[in-house]
Amino acid sequence: MANSRSGDSMTERIVRVLDTFTTERTMQTATEIAERTGLPSSTAHRIVGDLVAAGLLERDEEMRIRLGMRLWELALRGSSALRLRQAALPHMEQVQTVIREHTQLAVLEHEEALFLERLSHPDAGANITRIAGRLPLHASSSGLVLLAHADPALRERVMSLPLRAVSQETVTDAGVLRRLLTTIRRQGFVVAPGSIERVSTGVAVPVRNRGEVVAALSVVLPRESAPAPAVDALLAAARGIEQELGSGR
Ligand code: PHB
Repeated sequence: MANSRSGDSMTERIVRVLDTFTTERTMQTATEIAERTGLPSSTAHRIVGDLVAAGLLERDEEMRIRLGMRLWELALRGSSALRLRQAALPHMEQVQTVIREHTQLAVLEHEEALFLERLSHPDAGANITRIAGRLPLHASSSGLVLLAHADPALRERVMSLPLRAVSQETVTDAGVLRRLLTTIRRQGFVVAPGSIERVSTGVAVPVRNRGEVVAALSVVLPRESAPAPAVDALLAAARGIEQELGSGR
């Protein structure tokens, strides 16, 4: 693969272009993309043109660029995320029917919780999670469950870094976090009131595949709601998903 003068490969330059898209920034002009990549403008424009021609990016009538449907199609094909989502969906719907609040499925990805699915309810409260969006491990209920069951080396690395306060109630002390993770492993769920937003409580449980935690299933409740029914519904759903995953369907 040809390297540029700055030493990055063509693949790295393509990834820099794709990485300028976020859950909040879904449409950009080619010039904005070029500026955000830091690549020479002509290089960035050429890569954008090539990706549009290949269908990995799409350009609308106003010349704004978005990620292409073909990229979505390729990303989902045979991915473990899709299999997990398919196994989880019927059980998430069950939780949804009983609890009538947002229900999410997240996996550990590059030291963050990445959300694969979110079901909402018309009357549900506030929720900042987005499908294909991320939340910090130490600050979200899903993240706490994933961190509690993560490889010890990853856990220590996360705890050695500054723990950013997302809200006034986010756990930012490594010692407190360590004890909380031990409790999560022992009790099998977490209730995290106000960790991300003062008005909500995140409740999350682990989902295992052949004994290994592969995801977190969570609901976001209004702060005043009692968490016990959500804990019960999530634990039952996690067991259902685990049976589905174990059966290899
Ligand atoms: C959580 O998982 O703790 C959580 C997620 C989204 C929110 C609030 C809490 O909006």
